[in-house]
Amino acid sequence: MLEQDIQEVLFTEAQLKARVQELARQIERDYAGKEIMLISVLRGSFIFMADLCRAIDLPCTLDFMAVSSYGKGTSSSGQVQITKDLSEDISGRHIIVVEDILDSGNTLHYLLRLLDHRHPATIRLCTLLDKPERRVKPVEVHYTGFTIPDAFVVGYGLDYAEKYRNLPYIGILKPEVYGG
Ligand code: IMP
Ligand code: MG
Repeated sequence: MLEQDIQEVLFTEAQLKARVQELARQIERDYAGKEIMLISVLRGSFIFMADLCRAIDLPCTLDFMAVSSYGKGTSSSGQVQITKDLSEDISGRHIIVVEDILDSGNTLHYLLRLLDHRHPATIRLCTLLDKPERRVKPVEVHYTGFTIPDAFVVGYGLDYAEKYRNLPYIGILKPEVYGG
C-alpha cells in the first residue's frame, strides 16, 4: 500500500479541489475577455493541469512540454534540458505555465526565460506548490496553490522515482523511503 510510505497528509483531495477552484476564479477575473494558453510542464503537473483547465471558464488552448533537470534523488540541478518541446507557436498569446512545484527555481528560471524569447503577449506562472525556503534562482510567481515547508512531497502528480503520482492527495514522503 502506497499509504504506508506517507508520513503525513498535507492536502486532502477536498482541499486540493477547493484551492483549484479558487485559482480558476482568480485566473478568470485576470483574463476576462481574453483567450489563454495553458502550458503544462510534464510530468508532475498533469493532474493539476487536468483539474485546473476544467475549472477555468475562458476560451483556452493547451500544450505540453517536458524538461529534465538532471537531478538525482530529491533535488534538481542547474542544468535543464528540454526533452519535449511545445507543439504550438506561443507568440502573441497569453501564456500561463502550469507547474506542480517550485523548489530551487532552477527549472522554471530557465524555462520562463526560454519561453519569453518566443514573444508571448504575456506570460505568468501558476504553481500548485511553492517551497520558498529552497529557492536558489529567482522566479516570479503569479498564482500559488499552497506554500509548503521544506519537505519532500508526493501525490496528485508529484513523484519520487516516478512513483506515488497516482495518490489522490499530497503527502510528505517518509524520509526512510528515499534514504533521507
Ligand atoms: P526546481 O528546479 O528545484 O524548482 O524543481 C522543480 C521540479 O523538481 C519539480 O517540477 C518537481 O518535478 C521536482 N520536485 C521538487 N520538489 C519536489 C517534491 O517535494 N516532490 C516531488 N518532486 C519535487
Ligand atoms: Mg518531477
